[in-house]
Amino acid sequence: MSFQKIKGTLDYFGLQTKKRRYVESVARNICKLNNIEEIITPTIEYTDVFVRSSGDSSDIVTKEMYTFKDKGDRSITLRPEGTAGVCRAFLEEKLYVATGLKKYFYNGSMFRCERPQAGRYREFNQFGVEYYGEDSYLVDASVIILADSILKSLGLSNNYKVCVNTIGDFKSRMAYQEALRKYFSENIDSLCEDCKNRLNKNPLRILDCKVDKDSEVLKNAPKIVDYLTKEAKEYFDNLLKTLDYMNINYYVDNNLVRGLDYYTDTVFEFIACNDDSNESLNGLAILAGGKYSDLVKEFGGPSISGIGFAFGVERVISLMDKLNLFPESINDRIDYVVIGLDPNTKLYTLEICETLRKLGYSCEMDYKNCSFKPQFKLVDRVNPKYILIFGEEEVKENKVTIKNNDTKEQITLNIDEFIESLK
Ligand code: HAM
Repeated sequence: MSFQKIKGTLDYFGLQTKKRRYVESVARNICKLNNIEEIITPTIEYTDVFVRSSGDSSDIVTKEMYTFKDKGDRSITLRPEGTAGVCRAFLEEKLYVATGLKKYFYNGSMFRCERPQAGRYREFNQFGVEYYGEDSYLVDASVIILADSILKSLGLSNNYKVCVNTIGDFKSRMAYQEALRKYFSENIDSLCEDCKNRLNKNPLRILDCKVDKDSEVLKNAPKIVDYLTKEAKEYFDNLLKTLDYMNINYYVDNNLVRGLDYYTDTVFEFIACNDDSNESLNGLAILAGGKYSDLVKEFGGPSISGIGFAFGVERVISLMDKLNLFPESINDRIDYVVIGLDPNTKLYTLEICETLRKLGYSCEMDYKNCSFKPQFKLVDRVNPKYILIFGEEEVKENKVTIKNNDTKEQITLNIDEFIESLK
């Protein structure tokens, strides 16, 4: 029997792990500058957290969730996204009690039973941000600016397009849904089977259909801009003015509706675009989000508005890889390899390693071999900045030979003086 990882999942090791941690640490730093608190919620939730009584009609919730019954016959789901779980925690932990804007970030794996392909995994990592408690286009703008500044800090700039849209307030959406229902009913024959079902449940979902996406019927469907209330239009105009003022280079995409049901008003996606049109990520969203005015209420909480985004860590890594954007420094070198050239020196080198680590220096040693050759193989593999050599002589005389692994220069020092110099 051979054991293999599940299709659409990834093993992280070596440089790939360092790349992932680098991306996450840059995003964390930007969050810190924005006074955003980290929130960690469970990977599993009751299925209702994602389905809710309103019945989410998106593909993510209806088709792609890993849902199972636990031993107590409860329906459990591996989270397909972070927003619903954070919102559940926001309410359950009464985080809404504090006044003003509450800001959270999270970083973890999400699960979707999608067909695996380039940039689309079944277990993937999201770095996400959610803001709660202040309903303002300025907050929406600042979330988009934050998303943009994370990607820019990673070195991405002309490699993605910021697409924004509004799907209006409740009144606008009701009028728009009615118009869509009428339009698609008249064109029902050209819709796929799924879209025929979507027609009654949530016609907005048809605009997000992966099967029908290039059809003329979809392209010519009514546009939300024509159904916005005065307030919703003003809100969106103000958002765009703020983005202009802050020099965010965006496009308004009237067809953007997003793949989850909880959004209201502002929605956005940052789409990968490389010069090379054969790039597999081209056209895929690396980051996406929007505002959700009713989600906290849907969980049975007060009427508090939220807005957030999440980026796909794997998609960002893949784009950065193609553009060679990872700095050399992610492959940080270990400080010392400690070599003992006599069986009697092994215990001594073990002790030296511990002393170095306590002083904050990284080091490694060979626990088994005492001859030069295998120990220098370790040096070659690990590529430390320095090599500490303890032969029989050195140990007897309380000395150490320090070799610079780049210049190959070496000196011999008294061990106490050497340790003292490290302090
Ligand atoms: P989403 O658009 O479903 O939104 O996912 C956000 C990002 O996760 C996508 O733009 C993409 O980069 C990444 N992603 C999604 N599915 C996959 C996959 N199968 N493989 C690899 N990466 C993937 C949400 O999840 C919302 N919760 C975002 C949000 C936060 N809205 C408000 N707050």
